[in-house]
Amino acid sequence: MITSMTRIGVLTSGGDAPGMNAAIRAVVRTGTAGGAEVWGIGHGFEGLIGGEARRLGPRDVGGIIQQAGTVLHSARCEEFYEETGRRRAIDTIDQYGLAGLVVIGGSGTQRGAADLSAMGVPVVGIASTIDNDIYGVDISIGVDTALNIALEAIDRLKATASSLQRAFLVEVMGRDCGYLALMAGLAGGAETIVIPEVDTDPAAVFADLAAAAERGKLHAFVIVAEGAAFNAERLIAYAREHRKAIGFELRATILGHVQRGGIPTAFDRLLATRAGAAAAEALLAGTHGTMFGLRDGAIAAVPLADVKEGLKTLDLRLLDLARVMAT
Ligand code: F6P
Repeated sequence: MITSMTRIGVLTSGGDAPGMNAAIRAVVRTGTAGGAEVWGIGHGFEGLIGGEARRLGPRDVGGIIQQAGTVLHSARCEEFYEETGRRRAIDTIDQYGLAGLVVIGGSGTQRGAADLSAMGVPVVGIASTIDNDIYGVDISIGVDTALNIALEAIDRLKATASSLQRAFLVEVMGRDCGYLALMAGLAGGAETIVIPEVDTDPAAVFADLAAAAERGKLHAFVIVAEGAAFNAERLIAYAREHRKAIGFELRATILGHVQRGGIPTAFDRLLATRAGAAAAEALLAGTHGTMFGLRDGAIAAVPLADVKEGLKTLDLRLLDLARVMAT
């Protein structure tokens, strides 16, 4: 059980996600209110290995709830995924006298947290990535903001596409997961959607776009996940190669990192605040080895071991729904 004046650490690792700062704030303020000292680790697992830590009080996390990115900074750290790297991280934990650690990040980060937990460190995770590929939770911190940024871009592009009756491709992030593309396509009214989870025939994609024009549509959109075999680059190359057969030009926009930099939505701020508070409370109560996130409308604790082994799947029936909505 963690007692007063116990120290806990908090870090953000991997790709930043809008809402991470709100989660840091919740951990610091809940931890402090519960009688613990909270220490922020800079630059994720890399900073944990390197011993980069500073004490954070409630005032140090003021004015950050609305900021994207992470005030603790982040990193992708290969060394941590080796046992020797994790042992060095444990040395830092011992050196600072940290009785527990809150790890905020995506699927790779949570796998790292699971490994650290398996080595005996009291760790709790907070699910945070725009990719929404973390097993055990319905939606992770940052997804809602990233999705709204993609939608805003699609809405803007539609105005110009309709004016000139053009076909547009929009590529969204998501690593190997098609969630963002599927949801952006469904909510953005795409004519067709390309995701890694489903094999793509590029000819069929262009046929879908042409058919939309034949049905009298003023624009035709394909939303593509960056992780799809036929991502933007390959679809553009295909369009160049088959220019004559396709019969129209394709304009392409790759949204990329812009999706990570948005002001967190109310949804993400609330989710981050609730999950951050729950994670800190769990450590204060002496429970660990779990990751916090939203499941079935409530903040749930998922065993880190399950998060590491589990595979999150997409509801592919939504692709059929998107097809009907595109008619
Ligand atoms: O995991 C979040 C994410 O934004 C992915 O969607 C994307 O593939 C990746 O990170 C990009 O990584 P980096 O910021 O290292 O270029």
